[in-house]
Amino acid sequence: MTDSRIAKVQLGGEGPEVGVQGLGCMGMSWAYGPADAGESRATLERALEAGVTLYDTADAYGAGENEKFLSPFFKEHRDEVVIATKFAISTSPDDPMKRIIRNDPPYIRQCVEASLKRLDVDVIDLYYMHRRDVNVPIEEAVAAMAELVREGKVKHLGLSEVTAGELRAAQAVHPIAAVQSEWSLFSRDIEAHVVSAAKELGVALVPYSPLGRGFLTGSFANADTDLTDQDFRRTMPRFTGENAAANVVLLEPIRAVAEAHGASPAQIALAWVQQQATVHGLPVVPIPGTTKRSRVEENVAATRIVLTAEELALLEPIAAKVAGDRYPDMTFASAGRE
Ligand SMILES: NC(=O)c1ccc[n+]([C@@H]2O[C@H](COP(=O)([O-])OP(=O)(O)OC[C@H]3O[C@@H](n4cnc5c(N)ncnc54)[C@H](OP(=O)(O)O)[C@@H]3O)[C@@H](O)[C@H]2O)c1
Repeated sequence: MTDSRIAKVQLGGEGPEVGVQGLGCMGMSWAYGPADAGESRATLERALEAGVTLYDTADAYGAGENEKFLSPFFKEHRDEVVIATKFAISTSPDDPMKRIIRNDPPYIRQCVEASLKRLDVDVIDLYYMHRRDVNVPIEEAVAAMAELVREGKVKHLGLSEVTAGELRAAQAVHPIAAVQSEWSLFSRDIEAHVVSAAKELGVALVPYSPLGRGFLTGSFANADTDLTDQDFRRTMPRFTGENAAANVVLLEPIRAVAEAHGASPAQIALAWVQQQATVHGLPVVPIPGTTKRSRVEENVAATRIVLTAEELALLEPIAAKVAGDRYPDMTFASAGRE
């Protein structure tokens, strides 16, 4: 342990204490093309040394493969890590592009048992509902999740991509430690309702895709030409065709702020998300995803960057100008139900 470790923050009123930046592990097994397993494992270790304690996975990432991949790392460092995983999304055996969303209590129980087995741990620290199944009342689903807490299978509960109303209804059943939703310089729809509801209820925000799935870093300009066939971003409207060409221009102010700080655009994108904790007055723990040690170092260093009021004002107009939705089907996002 060195004193260069990142600061800590509590996730919600009763949630665990975690490093102010977590690590998204999805890309180590799925979504953005092949990743090197050795480098991914080294990335996990490097993150832990830097004080990153919240590790994010889901049963859906590689149909369980991501949880299995993380298991040896978690077992080796069980007392130092906060394991966050999720249930609710699976893919159709007939059509891998078709998602099936389920929140019914028997399914939740089946999922938690399967995740515990794949992770090979006794308890999951933070268990999220990955998506809302609108056919099941949220109170019923959260009651089933609360039962898992009582049974000691899960320590804390979280919800992903919920509306403010859904969050309020859930919190009335059992304390919710965190809402995990997309939040970045490109994706700010949760600021309309969800952020203020989370603040009011004492729930933390865990922004996913804080780097705009990599687009804000400048590492690709158009998914059609720059990314492999296996890359999920080729299906996302804002990263392809004319939308991508329009959106790449929006990175200019991020580059300008980065230059002023001697930082990378990725670091400015992360510093902006991190600073929303001060702007909105609630705990915010972004979970940038990377499969590379050097990027963990770069991303963690962003927790020490503070943007000025002028810089925040320069970055403010970006999100409203983004061309293209976050998902091909926006019912997959909470904003589609607000
Ligand atoms: N709840 C949900 O529905 C949901 C949805 C999506 C994601 N998530 C979670 O959120 C995590 C993060 O989201 P995300 O992975 O979609 O997007 P992200 O964190 O915005 O971006 C990840 C991408 O940026 C690249 N990257 C990371 N650091 C970089 C740097 N410093 N410079 C240049 N490129 C960099 C990564 O590539 P390299 O690996 O090559 O570094 C990867 O392609 C996921 O891992 C997952 O755990 C949750």
